Amino acid sequence: MPTKRRLSDVLGVALEGIDLSRPLSDAEFREVEQAFWDGQVLAIKGQRLAPEQYLAFARRFGRPEPHVIDQFHYPGHPDILILSNVKRDGKPTGLADAGSYFHTDYSYLAVPARVTMLYSIEVPKKGGNTLFANMYAAYDDLPAATKRRIADLVVLHHYGNRDDLDERSRTAASPLSDDQKRKVTWVRHPLVRTHYGTGRKALYAVSGSSFEIEGMPRGEGVALLDELKAHALQDKYRFSYAYDVGDVVLWDDLSTLHSATLTDPDDPRTLWRITVKEPAGSPA
Ligand SMILES: [Fe+2]
Repeated sequence: MPTKRRLSDVLGVALEGIDLSRPLSDAEFREVEQAFWDGQVLAIKGQRLAPEQYLAFARRFGRPEPHVIDQFHYPGHPDILILSNVKRDGKPTGLADAGSYFHTDYSYLAVPARVTMLYSIEVPKKGGNTLFANMYAAYDDLPAATKRRIADLVVLHHYGNRDDLDERSRTAASPLSDDQKRKVTWVRHPLVRTHYGTGRKALYAVSGSSFEIEGMPRGEGVALLDELKAHALQDKYRFSYAYDVGDVVLWDDLSTLHSATLTDPDDPRTLWRITVKEPAGSPA
């Protein structure tokens, strides 16, 4: 039986004593999924996985989606994106500086991410944490009047970071090629979303790709998004995860925001990322 412990008072659960290199039974998978829903961030410790084994585990959650940034797909396995600052022969081996601002994955797509997972291959000597914020707690704590005001609001999203549109900045979204940019359009998501697994309400993507509120003058929409973001990113909702080699860390894209932290470009760090999208046509 795997052992389970909470990582903080805010969110996070760690599982030990489970081996993802072999197929999980349905009962074992349900236990993992429950720990994931409870923790919102789940760290499964001590793994040694081949790409195929990692993908087989990810597929239990749904269909993996190749990232829009397609230069760093794992050779032969496009559903795995290599995040790395390591250079070989002067060339980057992976995507560095992935999302160093609070966001949730693929919120700029009509069908956003449900689960993002990272398999930790190489951990830098210093830093490299992922920061998380709990969007259930942030929603729950809003005054009743605010909950009523935002209940039916729809937010307009596109690729990028509302707070940093300078493509050369290290806290901007990774720049896209012209071809990648052509695939990016405006999409709509409710500001408050109900979780498919827990039935709980969460503030959705108030930081990152959210740019306007439907039916509101642009400035007013941005002001409301900024106000909700300032509330949602208070320290009391935050947790910082420090990776060990062999971790498989999953986060719940519906009920959390996350941010990468900037690391020393010369301090090697490598992770394999898989993103599982929500089922197409799922109710928002
Ligand atoms: Fe991300």
